[in-house]
Amino acid sequence: MRSHYCGHVNETLLDQNITLCGWAHRRRDHGGVIFVDLRDREGLVQIVFDPEQVEAFMLAERVRNEYVLRIKGCVRRRPPGTENSGLPTGMIEVLGENVEILNAAQPLPFQLDEEGVNEETRLRYRYIDLRRAEMLERLRLRARITHTLRGFLDTHGFLDVETPMLTKATPEGARDYLVPSRTHPGDFFALPQSPQLFKQLLMMSGLDRYYQFARCFRDEDLRADRQPEFTQLDIETSFMDENAIMLLMEDMMRELFAKTVETPLPKPFPRMTYHEAMTRYGVDKPDLRIPLELVDVGDLMRNVEFKVFSAPANDPAGRVAALCLPGGGALTRKEIDDYTQFVAIYGAKGLAYIKVNERAKGREGLQSPILKFMADEVIAEIMQRTDAADGDLIFFGADKAKIVCDALGALRIKLGHDRGLVQHGWQPLWVVDFPMFEHDAANGRWAALHHPFTAPAVDDIAALERDPGACLSRAYDLVLNGTELGGGSIRIHRPEMQSAVFRLLGINDEQAQEKFGFLLDALKYGCPPHGGIAFGLDRLTMLMTGAGSIREVMAFPKTQTAACPLTGAPSPASEMQLRELSIRLRQQANPATP
Ligand code: AMO
Ligand code: AMP
Repeated sequence: MRSHYCGHVNETLLDQNITLCGWAHRRRDHGGVIFVDLRDREGLVQIVFDPEQVEAFMLAERVRNEYVLRIKGCVRRRPPGTENSGLPTGMIEVLGENVEILNAAQPLPFQLDEEGVNEETRLRYRYIDLRRAEMLERLRLRARITHTLRGFLDTHGFLDVETPMLTKATPEGARDYLVPSRTHPGDFFALPQSPQLFKQLLMMSGLDRYYQFARCFRDEDLRADRQPEFTQLDIETSFMDENAIMLLMEDMMRELFAKTVETPLPKPFPRMTYHEAMTRYGVDKPDLRIPLELVDVGDLMRNVEFKVFSAPANDPAGRVAALCLPGGGALTRKEIDDYTQFVAIYGAKGLAYIKVNERAKGREGLQSPILKFMADEVIAEIMQRTDAADGDLIFFGADKAKIVCDALGALRIKLGHDRGLVQHGWQPLWVVDFPMFEHDAANGRWAALHHPFTAPAVDDIAALERDPGACLSRAYDLVLNGTELGGGSIRIHRPEMQSAVFRLLGINDEQAQEKFGFLLDALKYGCPPHGGIAFGLDRLTMLMTGAGSIREVMAFPKTQTAACPLTGAPSPASEMQLRELSIRLRQQANPATP
């Protein structure tokens, strides 16, 4: 059909006859000469139709944007002065000698170079949206990424194994997507939230090293970096400890970045404990490109005359922290008010601040409504700890620790972006030593911080039961530029420990048997110590392409309401289908509901 891709035609083909296939990107009539920019996956090339080639010229006159064409012609140098150095094929053009219109196209719902097309429209006509060079480039990089990762894993003895899509619930903290069973009326499969349990079973089978690009399904609130259906690079190994796994995964990431975007990553990746991350950055996925840090000042505030500060300072679950913004003294009243509103989203009741005009002058050189509550020594110590300089602004958060961390953690990132403080480059970070459990105040229960199969740092059931809140786990997260890219852990491999963790999570033995009996059984028949990790492929691709959302690196993503505007999914099932599935709807489907 074709001899070359449009984007590959260059001066090495001068005077040769070639055949191209593609889309008419643009057609221009120039005083008797017709130009068509022909486009395919690899780029654009200019075709010229001369009226002397009567037949080709007449067909070219009928061509409209996005017509699908096959063109035969001869490559020639562009006349001097008409070269386009901005285009890889800009030194040459093809004299169109024969044209076939393979298919016509109606006028498009939007132009490929149109800015600001709304996302719903882009997704509805995704096949057109994907014709844009930018989108193609992202899919191309995504394919290079999976290819390179496979190469690394294959070389390191990992076996690619598929695990079921129709399965039992895997608890990763989201709601399940359920699929009704026709052959077992009233029963449902769950689509996997991750292949977690199957990959552990594969270790018990002796596979030793497994990987899979696995589709995962999670019915949860969607955001820029979350989709209901997404892809994990899922990995599991036997007989390796967390350090060995982290080092191997780092090697994989370094190879990936070197081969696909020609960027070196640090060796080794830095590591930080969960505790340190929360203390210094307020989040468990710190963006180290932003040189701002939270500083604890609670111990200084226990006796101040300002209840807003002294109450949380004296509450074991409270926190009072400061965040110094270099040059922040230049912020206007309005800007500070806007930041106060911003932190309110995270539950903060206010955003106290001190403006540092002239630090050397002590109290006189500072400006703030809260200074009057603080003794000179307290003020001096705040200046010391925040290392504030003249012209800086120090923000304060005081509340329950969670609110202060959430609010100042988010403010830190916002300030970093608003004030142009985000440093260039890649900042990978392992976060380690997570707590095993977090207390869920709403139902007075312990919840697993990762998932219930994560091993505790100390292999001691009695210690775990005595003080679950104090136990650390053997989990690790890989963070890249403030995005959680992957998470994993060493798993529990003894049935007694697994049962104990279930009990602590409020899953009694009977429920554990019903939900995870197959796992508890498997643990009894010779289970090796094992552990692994899963990376979000969509997030990785998003970061590597610089896209603003994972929807931009998925061929056919869902909208924010978990729907597909292209196919119209989800959609009602017919009465007949429902009957076969033994399902009667509680509520008639309402076509008006989004
Ligand atoms: P976790 O739940 O942390 O771990 O998921 C691993 C990685 O998958 C990505 N991710 C998502 N990407 C897009 N949309 C989503 N809704 C979404 N949810 C998660 C993130 C995340 O870091 N079974 C464990 C892994 C293990 O322990 O080996 C698991 O699924 O990048
Ligand atoms: P007020 O006494 O309410 O006028 O507050 C004095 C200053 O403290 C204002 O700048 C408030 O924004 C700030 N503030 C109030 N509550 C908090 C809080 N929980 N954390 C930090 N600052 C606060």
